[in-house]
Amino acid sequence: MKIPLKSASELEGMRVSCRMTAEVLSCVAAAVQPGVATGELDELAKKMIADMRARPSFLGYRGYPAAMCISVNDEVIHGIPGQRVIMPGDVVSLDVGVFYNGFHGDSATTVMVGVTDPDVIRLVEATRRALSAALDAVRPGARLSDVSHAIETTAKASGCSVVREFVGHGIGRELHEDPQVPNFGAAGRGPMLRSGMTLAIEPMVNLGRPEVSVLDDKWTVVTRDGLPSAHFEHTVAVVEGGVEVLSAV
Ligand code: MF3
Ligand code: CO
Repeated sequence: MKIPLKSASELEGMRVSCRMTAEVLSCVAAAVQPGVATGELDELAKKMIADMRARPSFLGYRGYPAAMCISVNDEVIHGIPGQRVIMPGDVVSLDVGVFYNGFHGDSATTVMVGVTDPDVIRLVEATRRALSAALDAVRPGARLSDVSHAIETTAKASGCSVVREFVGHGIGRELHEDPQVPNFGAAGRGPMLRSGMTLAIEPMVNLGRPEVSVLDDKWTVVTRDGLPSAHFEHTVAVVEGGVEVLSAV
């Protein structure tokens, strides 16, 4: 495993692409409401990214057909935007990547649309806290699995489960770089975090069982038990003193 360390100027490039990513994600999140089709949200992202003279990181990646992944209710990740219309009570995960001047940014959030089900609120808040706990674990000298462990323990403390088949990742000049960042595992294992590493940390948390399947479209990942799932993601840099959240709004 070769984990690329970013120089000061490469980190500056990452800040720019990640800032763009954050802006697109927050605008799309603000546009989510009942009656909107997921394909319209993807069009909004495409337009914003084009206006920035940037490129959507996901479009064309291994043949992926859209700029965003929009995953509703039992969809975990990689939902393909299209005709599906957002309904009251939906839990909607939004994931977008922006490539600009040689660097990728990658960020995801989950929004609840008129959700009143306390279990769904517990799921989304647990996933948000899992990402927050993961960020708190990032600092030079920590081990990679300290991040993974923080995610798993935080999700499980709220009675939720973490997806094992998909993981976070290094990010930079490539959308996916070493290392993989699992959302589970014992603490104190794996490579030591060093200043200059850039990671996309992305807890995928299920309300019920952890098992998932992939639909016939070859992309959409759904929970096997049909219960809802949530997803939050930030691109971060390991810096002296801890973590810099590059995709923070
Ligand atoms: N945030 C996801 C990831 O980093 C989104 C990738 S979608 C893909 O894997 F289409 F680009 F694969
Ligand atoms: Co990612």
